[in-house]
Amino acid sequence: MTERIVETIRTVPDLRDAIAARRADGATVGFVPTMGALHRGHCALIKRAASEHDVVVVSIFVNPSQFNQAADLEHYPRDENGDVKAAAAAGATICFAPSAEEIYPADFASSVRVCGPLTETLEGQERGLGHFDGMATVVTILLNIVQPNVAYFGAKDAQQALVVRRFVTDLQIPVEIVTAETVRDQDGLALSSRNARLSPAGREQALAISAALQASANAISDGSAASPDGAAAAGVERLRAAGITPEYLAITDSSTLEPARELSGTLLIACAATVDGVRLIDNLTVIANREAATANC
Ligand code: PAJ
Repeated sequence: MTERIVETIRTVPDLRDAIAARRADGATVGFVPTMGALHRGHCALIKRAASEHDVVVVSIFVNPSQFNQAADLEHYPRDENGDVKAAAAAGATICFAPSAEEIYPADFASSVRVCGPLTETLEGQERGLGHFDGMATVVTILLNIVQPNVAYFGAKDAQQALVVRRFVTDLQIPVEIVTAETVRDQDGLALSSRNARLSPAGREQALAISAALQASANAISDGSAASPDGAAAAGVERLRAAGITPEYLAITDSSTLEPARELSGTLLIACAATVDGVRLIDNLTVIANREAATANC
């Protein structure tokens, strides 16, 4: 098999020039922002982008401003060579791997903030507002540099995808946002760059997270839960049985992320828990109160 050649670009002017040259030929541009340590979840986004666009830009940038803990940033897995190969195999055309100074020059002084429940609940509550400020700011910068037709995000980070949709709409950024479904290992574990830091025993224990989401979804669909609290309790019980105390396991409205008041409509079951010293998140969307409620996992 011949290896695809992918251009790795490190500066904003070089990236703008490379994209402009392709656009002049009529190419459309798909964009997949990542923090590297690429796995099949990222690659599914890249494949999707490659099936829809002539040029696929993948950014590899571990964004310091969205980490609320220095240790988490320090331990974040990095493997640029492996990432470029994986991105190429999935169909990327250009990898953009800038330095921190390229994105945040010494006189950088701006921030993008989405206000309200969308950023104040779940991850915003646990990690602090700075997490989504940092994410929204870097994604805005990247969208302004790449100016893609479509940008691809994973449902694995459902809250992030909703926050991106919010500021893209509010700030009139001319890009279409696609949210693609979560890629899981066969045993249900949602793929995450952080999984690489789990010991074999920790990985086994972490399976309880997707199982807990499923337990809550089942309690909704089979009618055994009478309320959102009851559905959450079913999931928490599954976690406790595996020795995990979650940071949160919440049943929320899937578009506002406010706590669900009743088991109806489209609900997002979201969970965060630390296993083996690694903080993991996962979620499941369920449609409640239909004749046969369906779980999308
Ligand atoms: P990162 O965690 O590297 O994720 C990059 C993209 O891959 C995100 O849109 C994320 O939701 C998606 N993704 C991760 N795991 C996935 C899985 N198992 N299935 C499907 N998609 C998955 O999210 C970030 O980076 C950063 O916050 C970023 C948007 C790049 C801004 O810094």
